[in-house]
Amino acid sequence: MPTPVLYCRDPLNPRCVDEHFAQEAREVRACGGTVGLIDHDALLRGDAQQAVARVPSGLGSAWYRGWMIPGDRYAALAEALERRGTALLVTPERYRAAHELPGWYPVFADVTPASVWRPTKPGETLAGEDLAVLAESLPPGAGIVKDYVKSRKHEWEQACFVPDLADTVGLARVVRRFVELQEEFLAGGVVLRSFEAFSRPESVAAEARVWWLDGEPRLLTPHPDSPFEHGPRPDLDRIQPAVRRLGCRFVTTDVALRSDGVWRVVEVGDGQVSDLHPAVDRGELAALLVGPSPEDRSSGER
Ligand SMILES: Nc1ncnc2c1ncn2[C@@H]1O[C@H](COP(=O)(O)OP(=O)(O)O)[C@@H](O)[C@H]1O
Ligand SMILES: [Mg+2]
Repeated sequence: MPTPVLYCRDPLNPRCVDEHFAQEAREVRACGGTVGLIDHDALLRGDAQQAVARVPSGLGSAWYRGWMIPGDRYAALAEALERRGTALLVTPERYRAAHELPGWYPVFADVTPASVWRPTKPGETLAGEDLAVLAESLPPGAGIVKDYVKSRKHEWEQACFVPDLADTVGLARVVRRFVELQEEFLAGGVVLRSFEAFSRPESVAAEARVWWLDGEPRLLTPHPDSPFEHGPRPDLDRIQPAVRRLGCRFVTTDVALRSDGVWRVVEVGDGQVSDLHPAVDRGELAALLVGPSPEDRSSGER
């Protein structure tokens, strides 16, 4: 049976898939997959039952593909779907592990910049001393600030990059601005990461996004923000074992070439909520999600 995929509905046109994912959903249908609709706004409001009201009952096991969902809301989505006879192929626990840095970091520690974090509430100010203690366990030098899920990379100077982690005043200023700009969307807490010199640190152009299904790299795309249609070809030898240890069915890793020639993982994400570069053929991802066609399956058995 082709695997069904649940997409976010278009807020203005509730019977349709959100425009951002519409082409991909068409390709899913073309591969024989069923498409269901989730009301992402309702889910984020806390009304999971309303969010799944249009999902046909008894779909079996399905992927979600759409906008990011906070970990607790994803758990509510899974529960609401279960009541309608549909199970998400990624459990809430594994979703969170791939989506939030503290979930994936321990497994990727050897292949990603050193990181420390502190849980915080949105808007919470962290004292300079607390930040200094946190930063002490990182190598000396520059750093990066983000939350468990996102950075403010477009506000690089004021809310992302810390030129010297030992400069507590400077560090506290960047963290304060980051927390301020994240408003109520701050996810989980504040993360400090050691800065590494990638081939083009000021842009994401040199990052490649690797899409992993069941521990295998199945699709290689440029980072969604890249101005180029083709990304670099990373060496995945040291990265694949970490992906396998993470044990999540569908993840992405954004990888970048460090100036010493080593491929590093910039971040990990749950594949269900990872954006696809505009130049990439939606059919390739759709085919991955829906699974092998009956013909492919029977030829594989021969
Ligand atoms: N530790 C780091 N060293 C150097 N550059 C980094 C580091 N972490 C992030 N960056 C740069 O900042 C960008 C955004 O960081 P990332 O962790 O991917 O956050 P986001 O979730 O907002 O994309 C990356 O694409 C990369 O260019
Ligand atoms: Mg990123």
